[in-house]
Amino acid sequence: MIASSTPVIAIDGPSASGKGTLAKKVAEHFGFHYLDSGALYRVVAYASKASGIAWTQEEEIARLIPTLDIEFKGNDILLGQLSIDSLIRTEEMGKGASQVAQYPKVRTALFDLQQQFRKSPGLVADGRDMGTVVFPDAKVKIFLTASAETRAKRRYEQLLQAGIKSDYDVILHDLQARDKQDLERATAPLKMADNALCIDTSHLDIASVFDQIVTVSQQAL
Ligand code: CDP
Repeated sequence: MIASSTPVIAIDGPSASGKGTLAKKVAEHFGFHYLDSGALYRVVAYASKASGIAWTQEEEIARLIPTLDIEFKGNDILLGQLSIDSLIRTEEMGKGASQVAQYPKVRTALFDLQQQFRKSPGLVADGRDMGTVVFPDAKVKIFLTASAETRAKRRYEQLLQAGIKSDYDVILHDLQARDKQDLERATAPLKMADNALCIDTSHLDIASVFDQIVTVSQQAL
């Protein structure tokens, strides 16, 4: 890995812990770039399916990755010419992402791509292994968590806002299954970095978590 003096704020945590919203706000606050690493795993799940590759085919998926033309453009993600943000944000692609993310060859194939987001003046990276594997030298490491019930409720409301009526119990069940898969996999499991600040957001609103992250970041940067 090439040493870089460009600062990274790594924000890791389980599904629906508030990472995405907070990471984007923190990036805006500092004028930093933003990496939504989960979106990359979702794109890989989507592109595999679209190419007729099953989510169990590690080798084939890993070989597909370097051929993908992925571009983050504002709030959208382009795969070639195709706008795919809404296509990858489904529960199905969340499950697919978690499945393909288990494979070491898939993670290796995405490693360099993620590091390329580290550009001046800085990067806020959100995911599962930002502080442990991809940017172990991150200046700031935050681990966001919340109870499974709180996270399922948030996901339910998020979907409702997007006009999608779902079943809370199904969401809770899927979220717990995804937590288990992400926690128990052998490669880069969801795990708090030793020197991370853990924030349980179950009873906190976005604004107060944002303030905490900005305060620790200002001290560290
Ligand atoms: O939006 P949500 O938090 O549910 O998921 P996401 O951040 O979009 O990530 C989808 C899946 O990709 C996760 O369940 C993980 O299995 C995987 N992932 C990963 O393994 N490593 C990352 N750095 C980011 C996501």
